[in-house]
Amino acid sequence: MNALAVAERTMSLPRLPLEPDLFGRVLDDCHRGISTEYFLRRDDNLLERDSSLRYFRAWHEMPAHHRCLLTHARGRVLDVGAGAGQHTLVLQERGLAVTAIDASPLAVEVCRRRGVRDAREMDAHVLRFPAGSFDTVLFMQQTLGLAGTPEGLRYLLRRLHRLVADGGQLLADIATPADALQPGHRRYQHQNRALGRYPGTVRQRIEYQGMRGLDFDWLLLPLDDLRALCADTGWKITRCVQVDANATYAIALGKV
Ligand SMILES: C[S@@+](CC[C@H](N)C(=O)[O-])C[C@H]1O[C@@H](n2cnc3c(N)ncnc32)[C@H](O)[C@@H]1O
Repeated sequence: MNALAVAERTMSLPRLPLEPDLFGRVLDDCHRGISTEYFLRRDDNLLERDSSLRYFRAWHEMPAHHRCLLTHARGRVLDVGAGAGQHTLVLQERGLAVTAIDASPLAVEVCRRRGVRDAREMDAHVLRFPAGSFDTVLFMQQTLGLAGTPEGLRYLLRRLHRLVADGGQLLADIATPADALQPGHRRYQHQNRALGRYPGTVRQRIEYQGMRGLDFDWLLLPLDDLRALCADTGWKITRCVQVDANATYAIALGKV
């Protein structure tokens, strides 16, 4: 498949009005009981339905691997891309000092309305905290993917290495591109190569109630690539558990 053909295909996406904080609106509407359904459209036009209820779970509704990761949280915690604050709230109730950050202004507002004490609008690529501020950094529901590319992740891990105190940790569940076994994913990765992109980078946007959000790149990284990247940034994988057959892993990184 040549790059021009791929590029032309990506231009056939539906033209919808842009709402830059559409994900925040999805969370806000869910919190207000207005709607729970939204869509993710990949740039090759693959459309997936999703439910925003998965951002509003109580402890007993969370998948086992979320509960397991949360059980390992300790000290001062940074919840990156906190969404509606479900994980922050659990840890806060347990008495931990948690700072929740999200790039979405409306998500931060929802966090505050739900009782998150320290919720801040902040881009994970511009973390404004002094060195050694945290003992645990959380990236829940595959939020490490916001790094977009391996270079983005390398940059992010280096910054986090400085923000996390010695002996500190990063906890995350991650998606790897191993479900490329599905024909659609394999083709998509092939197209990425043709476009000169990293194969595991998924470009997509949210669609909700006739509007579209900004395009964003979400990173799916094979474990071996993550391991190599960690070695390069002062982290190492200290625990890794496969969560399901869909190539999701719960991982803990420690500072070397
Ligand atoms: C998949 S959701 C996960 C939400 C939450 N961690 C949870 O599990 O309920 C990803 C979140 O990351 C946020 N996000 C995306 N890119 C971001 C960035 N560059 N900086 C901060 N937050 C970001 C989104 O607004 C969204 O709330």
